[in-house]
Amino acid sequence: MISWNFYESWVVQNWQYSVPTLAFALVLWKVLSYQAPQFEECDEEVTKVAPQNQTKKKLSEEEYIGEFQDDSYDEVDTPALEEKPHIPFYGATVILDSDPTKFYEIMNDRRSVRMFSDRPIDYEIIEKCVQTAATSPSGAHTEPWTFCVVQDALLKAQIRDIIESEELENYERRMSRRWVTDLKPLKTNFVKEYLTTAPYLILIFKQTYGMMENGRKKQHYYNEISVSIATGILLCALQAAGLSSLVTTPLNCGPALSNLLKRPKNEKLLVLLPVGYAADDCTIPDLTRKSIDEVLVKY
Ligand SMILES: Cc1cc2nc3c(=O)[nH]c(=O)nc-3n(C[C@H](O)[C@H](O)[C@H](O)COP(=O)(O)O)c2cc1C
Repeated sequence: MISWNFYESWVVQNWQYSVPTLAFALVLWKVLSYQAPQFEECDEEVTKVAPQNQTKKKLSEEEYIGEFQDDSYDEVDTPALEEKPHIPFYGATVILDSDPTKFYEIMNDRRSVRMFSDRPIDYEIIEKCVQTAATSPSGAHTEPWTFCVVQDALLKAQIRDIIESEELENYERRMSRRWVTDLKPLKTNFVKEYLTTAPYLILIFKQTYGMMENGRKKQHYYNEISVSIATGILLCALQAAGLSSLVTTPLNCGPALSNLLKRPKNEKLLVLLPVGYAADDCTIPDLTRKSIDEVLVKY
């Protein structure tokens, strides 16, 4: 009978050749069998409620709707909104024009402004624009927004200090070279003079959850999308009122700004908009917008 001894085999005796060869073969196999992640054309809808005897399906980040219920949330059997009979609705009653061109012209006129005049603006105009933003739709009508309007010069200077010191870090260390390079045509840097020259700063916070009257938490579904839509409506309202603004997302400044404005811990800063009239010597990047054919797909 032929007996085979593993320790005396060629593979073991010549381990200095066989081990690297096997390692190389393993790496090669891994490389050849690697499949690049495929772009998913359509995400599976995961709005189903898991039956009670099944564990909840984990939602991917894209489908993330807000904090999940835990014991600190209100009990699930009482809706957050009062249950009332529905009322009739006959569609839009206040319209600009049956031709949407006018509104397009108003919005096509909007540009981001980084050089503001200190020309004063009535607070009532800003208030009305914010009231317009607050007509926005929101996930399950949770209205998860807080608009902080800052006019006080000292507070604006403190906001500028916080943002400029973080932005210096951002531009010098935190942002990738690619990012800094892509911003070059916009000529932005860590100096944000507009934070003290613009008559108003509007800091828009998303409420990641709400509070019920009984002190328990209320779920705020899709709060970031809801607040982003409200921000879009605010931009439209400001533009229609003849004002200029700039959407800014000051990286890493959220906690310090929340602290400065004494915001509660369920509120997270989403964007900050300086608002005012453009300075007389204001310049803006020479940008063009995509054509309708590039952005609209007709079916
Ligand atoms: C989500 C978002 C974040 C932005 N963040 C900044 C920012 O932090 N600083 C800034 O100067 N501009 C910021 N912008 C403004 C864009 O640079 C600007 O909208 C873009 O260049 C197009 O120019 P337009 O607004 O004049 O059409 C931001 C815009 C958006 C929508």
